[in-house]
Amino acid sequence: MKISDIRKHYLTFFADHGHAILPSASLIPENDPTTLFTGSGMQPMVSYLLGEPHPRGVRIADSQKCFRSQDIDEVGDNRHTTFFEMLGNWSLGDYFKTEQITWMFEFLTTNLGLDPKNLYVTVFRGNSDLNIPRDEESAALWQKLFASKGIEAQIGENAEQDGMKSGERIFYYPEKKNWWSRTGVPSNMPVGEPGGPDTEMFYDFGSERNLHETSIWMNEPCHVNCDCGRFVEIGNNVFMQYVKTETGFEELKQRNVDFGGGLERMAAAVNGNPDVFLIDAFAPAIAELIQLSGKQYETHTHAYRVILDHLRAATFLIGDGVYPSNKDQGYFVRRLIRRAVRFAHQLGIAENVCLKIGATFIAMYADTYPYMLSSQDVILAELEKEEKKFQQTLKQGMKKFVELLVPDGNKIISGIDAFDLVQSYGFPVELTEELATENGFTVDMETFKIEKEKHQALSRAGSEQKFKGGLADHSDMSVKYHTATHLLHQALRQVLGDMVVQKGSNITPERLRFDFPYPTRPTDDQMKHVEELVNDTISKKLPVHFEMLTLDEAKTRGAIGLFADKYAEVGDKVKVYFVGDEAMGNSFSKEVCGGPHVSNTSELGKFQIQKEESIGSGLRRIKAILT
Ligand code: SER
Repeated sequence: MKISDIRKHYLTFFADHGHAILPSASLIPENDPTTLFTGSGMQPMVSYLLGEPHPRGVRIADSQKCFRSQDIDEVGDNRHTTFFEMLGNWSLGDYFKTEQITWMFEFLTTNLGLDPKNLYVTVFRGNSDLNIPRDEESAALWQKLFASKGIEAQIGENAEQDGMKSGERIFYYPEKKNWWSRTGVPSNMPVGEPGGPDTEMFYDFGSERNLHETSIWMNEPCHVNCDCGRFVEIGNNVFMQYVKTETGFEELKQRNVDFGGGLERMAAAVNGNPDVFLIDAFAPAIAELIQLSGKQYETHTHAYRVILDHLRAATFLIGDGVYPSNKDQGYFVRRLIRRAVRFAHQLGIAENVCLKIGATFIAMYADTYPYMLSSQDVILAELEKEEKKFQQTLKQGMKKFVELLVPDGNKIISGIDAFDLVQSYGFPVELTEELATENGFTVDMETFKIEKEKHQALSRAGSEQKFKGGLADHSDMSVKYHTATHLLHQALRQVLGDMVVQKGSNITPERLRFDFPYPTRPTDDQMKHVEELVNDTISKKLPVHFEMLTLDEAKTRGAIGLFADKYAEVGDKVKVYFVGDEAMGNSFSKEVCGGPHVSNTSELGKFQIQKEESIGSGLRRIKAILT
């Protein structure tokens, strides 16, 4: 089975069970300042899990593009990738454990044809301090389902210490393993964050795949969560049922299901091979790399995996409008590309690897994501440009490096110099080490690591700062900024023309940020005009309301924000927010949007543009505040 078959089977299965099928949202979260990337299928669903009505109903499914920057360093083993697709289905206060677990079992064993003997599951052990009970209901459901296939599934209580015993197939684990929230275990969750116990499904690739001898688990007994490589998690059913409070946990207004399963890992299970890089999605890129390097995947596995993962991720990120840079999301794209180029050098590929491999991924995914094909020229140009820039950087780094080779010293390159090469020249430390060895030098890696950790601590502090902004934070200020964003969008179109469309939006309780394409720098007069238009609209005290319209109605009534593939199906209803009233002749803006918004523009205060700047590649960025 190809990933396109599995994706189709999954979406059809859940459509047949009454789910509305949504297209994937962007890798760049919209109106969610809490995080740089969409890292799970549930992220775009948070407000609906918290109780906002979803325009498409209470049963939703999709295949969501995800990017997990924190996994960059894990790439190289048989199952970690930074980019992946997560199959997801949600019950928004509708069905619960029985349906979810039964459907999953049916989908995996019947639709994907996986042998139930190779399936293992984990459930939440419960925690009396948190007042969250042990999930006996899920354990009993799994037992019954396995029994229906003639498998007596015994329950393991303490597998993480004792290892798994023969006959055991269902395991209780504590919250470290069987609790899910965007920020992890209960103690890490901020107040207001939703989360819940989960039940995870693992595929057993066979005990001969037990890779203990090469892993840190060498002397530990094997169990499904031990990371030895024999078992691979293929899906996670979260029972999103709680919300963190000042004192502990409360039940949410509704009991939700949040399922997420790795498409690539499911494909690996169907293939019976735990190496996710051997699924069809990577085959054309592997063929191209063999062509370019003359080296084989089997003999250069690590380098291949890094190149494959990183260039697929970079291609998709650029496709969603993130260009390589030194800041925010762009920094990751830069890092992915540069790392891939480094590893391509190891394979002996001197140039043009990004362009060529990027093209294979665009072709591979063109049917599912047609926008990738239509943005092909831009994507490939960015990949090529960044690769060239990096080659240049390497040259400059080399000059600096040579200066460090002081022959009369004790032939040590200091950790601070090595880190400076990384920071100032983008010159990878592995390269410094290699070149040092060639010249009879060593690198003080201890100090290097300390420098690096200092730097990481700083950037972590930066992202925690970001988290504070909070989306699930539907705070009054954020809601005001959200409405102000609609006014700004419309005002820009009136002043600069219809080519202005929202390319990115980021809201915190302190400010709004809005990105849009425009080829030149707008004049000061134009910006002043935009600001006045927004303030006029505010002072007119216009009412804000929404209507549920079909796609056609929304178009006919001139709503903006009908992003090409966001609301794909004709006949579906979308939520359209109106500022002003057509019937009253004072309609100002109409935009497809999930909300929430203020009910009258008079609530906004005074609007002020603080900054207008280019962010490269024909995109402009406005930062504005309400005072
Ligand atoms: N949110 C859960 C996860 O990411 C399930 O969708 O694993």
